[in-house]
Amino acid sequence: MKRTIRDLKDIKGKKVLLRCDFNVPLDNWGDILNDNRIKEALPTISYLAEKGARLIVCSHLGRPKGYDKFLSLFPVAVYLMKHFPNKVKFSSKVVGTEVDEAVEKLKPGEILVLENLRFQQGESENSPAFVNQLSSLCDIYVDDAFGVAHRKQASNYGIALKKPNAMGFLIEKELKAFDAAFKQPAHPFVAIFGGAKVDDKLNLINNFLNMADTILIGGGMAYTFLQAKGVSVGNSIVSHDLIAEAKEILSNAKQKGVEILLPVDHLVLDGEKLKKVRVPEIEGNAVGLDIGPKTIKLFCSRIKDAKQIIWNGPLGKYEDSRFKTGTIKIAKAVAKSGAFSIVGGGDSVSAIEVAGVADKIDHLSTGGGASLKLMEGKMLPAVEVIDTI
Ligand code: 3PG
Repeated sequence: MKRTIRDLKDIKGKKVLLRCDFNVPLDNWGDILNDNRIKEALPTISYLAEKGARLIVCSHLGRPKGYDKFLSLFPVAVYLMKHFPNKVKFSSKVVGTEVDEAVEKLKPGEILVLENLRFQQGESENSPAFVNQLSSLCDIYVDDAFGVAHRKQASNYGIALKKPNAMGFLIEKELKAFDAAFKQPAHPFVAIFGGAKVDDKLNLINNFLNMADTILIGGGMAYTFLQAKGVSVGNSIVSHDLIAEAKEILSNAKQKGVEILLPVDHLVLDGEKLKKVRVPEIEGNAVGLDIGPKTIKLFCSRIKDAKQIIWNGPLGKYEDSRFKTGTIKIAKAVAKSGAFSIVGGGDSVSAIEVAGVADKIDHLSTGGGASLKLMEGKMLPAVEVIDTI
């Protein structure tokens, strides 16, 4: 069993480095557009602060190449300052003498938020020098950054190999939800997959052929499958090199008795014109960008009867308001179904929030890539290196 922060004894006065995933959307004014990931980290921060840890909180934000003022963690520190009045300080450096001094001055229950870890090249490279600098800051390391747990970086992988460590409440909660879904799935088990690219989803679908009863496929990835079935898709996005694999998945599904449903109508852009295509085939140069009403009805009929649902990825080009409808309607149907439901991935989670149904979903995952890895049946490297008890 992996150690959690509940298993940590005598943390009063100890320097605890807590890795969070505060990779949140910011506008150019530094306003946080969605604070979900920060909110989800609060139970761990509160617990450790209340136990009297001297907390050093760190995270990445975006994918900067060196310093980038638009990717500073200062707005996150300000958020935490409001939540923990008079307890939080911000360090404009990630490591170095100034940080060492600030850490030494921390009193039990106080929190120092470090600047964006990825301003240091060593973070993404998991460089031994940067790992050493980070580990010299603390006595204990705690990982609660589920969203980045599929990556091996200095602050979530290298450091865990050097320090006594534990996972926080958020990682524990995420793992429990996926575990419950996979160990004893309730049937009918419906998986819904979308998103533009099929490339990173084939392993996932293969894994679900062993668990799910029905797989609903929408979004850009559906067109590779439609093409694999010989359905014309116009100029819609297709990964030509994966058509053979898509064909194999469709035939394996048939053999295993797993139903795979694809879009049967579409909302398309033909040049500049928005058009409804009421059949599966898309002709000419038109590009399919959302599922149509017949598909929504078909997908909703399976969702309605489901006892368990896992959903990852939007059913259309969600970032464009003209192509949001399918995703939002699916979000509402998942919420209404009463099935045990897990939703992961930025756009699907956003659709749930926009539809105002977040309280009806059993687990909204804070991880996109990390939840995909779990759904592929793989372990997360950052979790693997957490100490066992
Ligand atoms: C995410 O937003 O998916 C995580 O924070 C990981 O970010 P990354 O893909 O830039 O590593």
